[in-house]
Amino acid sequence: MAKKIQAVRGMHDILPDETPLWQFLEDTVRRVFQSYAYRELRTPILEMTELFKRSIGEVTDIVEKEMYTFEDRNGDYLTLRPEGTAGCVRACMESGLLHNQIQRLWYQGPMFRHERPQKGRYRQFQQIGLEAYGMSEPDIDLEVILITARLWRELGIPGLELQINTLGTPDERKTYRARLVGYFQEHREQLDEDSRRRMNSNPLRILDSKNPDMAELIAAAPSLMDDLGEESRAHFSAITEGLDAAGIKYVLNPCLVRGLDYYSRTVFEWVTDLLGAQGTVCAGGRYDGLVEQLGGRATPAVGFAMGVERLVAVLEALDQVHPAAVPHAYLVVAGGNAAQAGLMLAESLRTALPGLRLQLNCGGGSFKSQFKRADRSGAKVALILGDDELKNQCVGVKWLRQNREQISVNHDELAGFLKEISGE
Ligand code: HAM
Repeated sequence: MAKKIQAVRGMHDILPDETPLWQFLEDTVRRVFQSYAYRELRTPILEMTELFKRSIGEVTDIVEKEMYTFEDRNGDYLTLRPEGTAGCVRACMESGLLHNQIQRLWYQGPMFRHERPQKGRYRQFQQIGLEAYGMSEPDIDLEVILITARLWRELGIPGLELQINTLGTPDERKTYRARLVGYFQEHREQLDEDSRRRMNSNPLRILDSKNPDMAELIAAAPSLMDDLGEESRAHFSAITEGLDAAGIKYVLNPCLVRGLDYYSRTVFEWVTDLLGAQGTVCAGGRYDGLVEQLGGRATPAVGFAMGVERLVAVLEALDQVHPAAVPHAYLVVAGGNAAQAGLMLAESLRTALPGLRLQLNCGGGSFKSQFKRADRSGAKVALILGDDELKNQCVGVKWLRQNREQISVNHDELAGFLKEISGE
């Protein structure tokens, strides 16, 4: 027997029993984003490799070792997008959307990173992201965070922790970086191999190390707060004060540095303790330098992305069950003339009642086997169209979930009857 082909490691099917929860999440997100007047943008899954190198940064884990990159038939280097921000900026620049304009945008779709798969970490995963362009004041940082807080409320997810930090401007970071490298040089013997490697390339990322042996060293490291100028300080205070005023709790985490290079000033993450090691369900921040870095005119920007698998896992852990969309009715048809009449009847009922979920028996079968299928479909009622019913312009109604007498309903009353039982 031929060897079975399986899904690629770290990539998952989302089966029909799971999709109701996904749809609930997606519908809620869309509604909340629209209530803040954000508009959806859709970009290709493939981009030129160069785009990610220049935005996420050459010496990040993502670009160094996680991208799915290949040479296409023209010799172009292409990459399956590992995140959505770079493509969003590229699309906006290319279509002139950033030309002296304010934009509030969101997107969703699969992202790809060749990471070591584990619970909550996949090689193909779904992100929903949101980006705001053209606004440099802290009010927009605050709006973006308030959107996420509202989302958790609407989704019924309590207990997420908001961590925030500021990374300052590139100049402030440069000063800090020198101080930080000096400090780590002094304690070089306490650094693990990974951190020694990062000393020269990306020393701020050492702060993000999860190695417990380095926890003390990191806790005592110099703070970027001390290198912040007046403006960066005021920007950050405005956000924390705004959060206080809105009643949103947060934790200041000076070690929150993010794994992508484009951030400046505000960074934040929402973290859960329900999922083990992969607890960040949403992350983002300000990235004022990126548009210019990609060849556009300097444009302030701020945004975030959520990991949908992780949020779905949280909803599951909270026992949030959303019933699958089972059919309201299943149409059982006798052979011969009734089969075609059944098809026409089903079509006209769907036209009359747009919310109706009606499953038509296809492929024939005895009444007995059709009733079995009707039962398995989860439908409330089986509608029966036999030769007699066809003659009399009616259908039989058999209740599949209740102990009730079978009844007969005329064709012209059928839509009204189904409206009542479907609640549509
Ligand atoms: P990120 O932190 O790389 O940021 O990813 C955002 C979220 O995507 C993470 O917090 C996590 O929930 C989810 N995620 C990331 N990698 C995986 C994975 N391998 N498996 C499952 N979920 C994952 C960004 O991507 C930025 N573009 C966010 C942003 C938008 N910043 C500004 N605007």
